[in-house]
Amino acid sequence: MKTIIITGANGSLGSVTVKKFLDNNYRVIAVARSGSELGFAAEHKHFELHQLDLADENAVSLFIKEAISIYGSIQGALFLAGGFAMGNLANTSISDLRKMFILNFETAYHIARALFDHMLENGYGRLVFIGAKSALQPETAKGTIAYSLSKSLLFNLADILNAAAKDKDKNVTASVVVPSIIDTVPNRQAMPGADHSTWVKPEQIADILEFICSEKGLTIREPVYKVYNNA
Ligand SMILES: NC(=O)c1ccc[n+]([C@@H]2O[C@H](COP(=O)([O-])OP(=O)(O)OC[C@H]3O[C@@H](n4cnc5c(N)ncnc54)[C@H](OP(=O)(O)O)[C@@H]3O)[C@@H](O)[C@H]2O)c1
Repeated sequence: MKTIIITGANGSLGSVTVKKFLDNNYRVIAVARSGSELGFAAEHKHFELHQLDLADENAVSLFIKEAISIYGSIQGALFLAGGFAMGNLANTSISDLRKMFILNFETAYHIARALFDHMLENGYGRLVFIGAKSALQPETAKGTIAYSLSKSLLFNLADILNAAAKDKDKNVTASVVVPSIIDTVPNRQAMPGADHSTWVKPEQIADILEFICSEKGLTIREPVYKVYNNA
């Protein structure tokens, strides 16, 4: 049984992803900062929930050491914690930028940093970042400067980790999954007039996340999955 860490587990994509992985016989170590959307999993014998602020480097390091000591090895980590902010160059201060950097980059970086050598030692590991379409398409990013910049660093980090793993000839990969607009309740409330059929459903992204961690994803290297549907 593979053990997978899922951050942002309490969020719109996170709760669906937790269900997908439990249904497919993974052990799920879920990380949430608050909330209680995960009641459906509470009694599952392969599920545990940790309340953790992923911006706290020391707390994350302790959490990963403990998880490794309990389970021996961690095969995957899905970095679903993150968030969005509007703002163009004129109204995005450096403090706005730092907030997005912490939310979208640091929350993934601390765990990736704590797990990468462990995965290299095991010879296998899957680190999965959630990017953003606007980080790949600068022409769409001018109204979301801090968000797009903070997400763009995840692509660079994935490239660096993939190169380091390749250098050591290990099956450790960093993937970036890039959704367009996800069909979530908050997005429907924020954009009631939009054509929701063009959006991507959380379940469709969860399928891809599971594929990455499954045996079917064993031979894939340096992947960027553009999950745009028709948005
Ligand atoms: N929704 C979209 O349309 C869309 C599009 C492209 C990319 N994405 C990306 O996809 C991912 C999931 O999106 P979503 O819509 O499911 O987001 P969501 O519902 O807002 O969930 C994000 C989760 O991240 C957690 N989180 C934030 N900061 C944290 C911290 N410091 N420590 C621990 N947990 C923290 C939040 O916990 P709390 O609630 O406790 O703060 C929340 O559970 C995000 O990375 C997002 O940027 C989303």
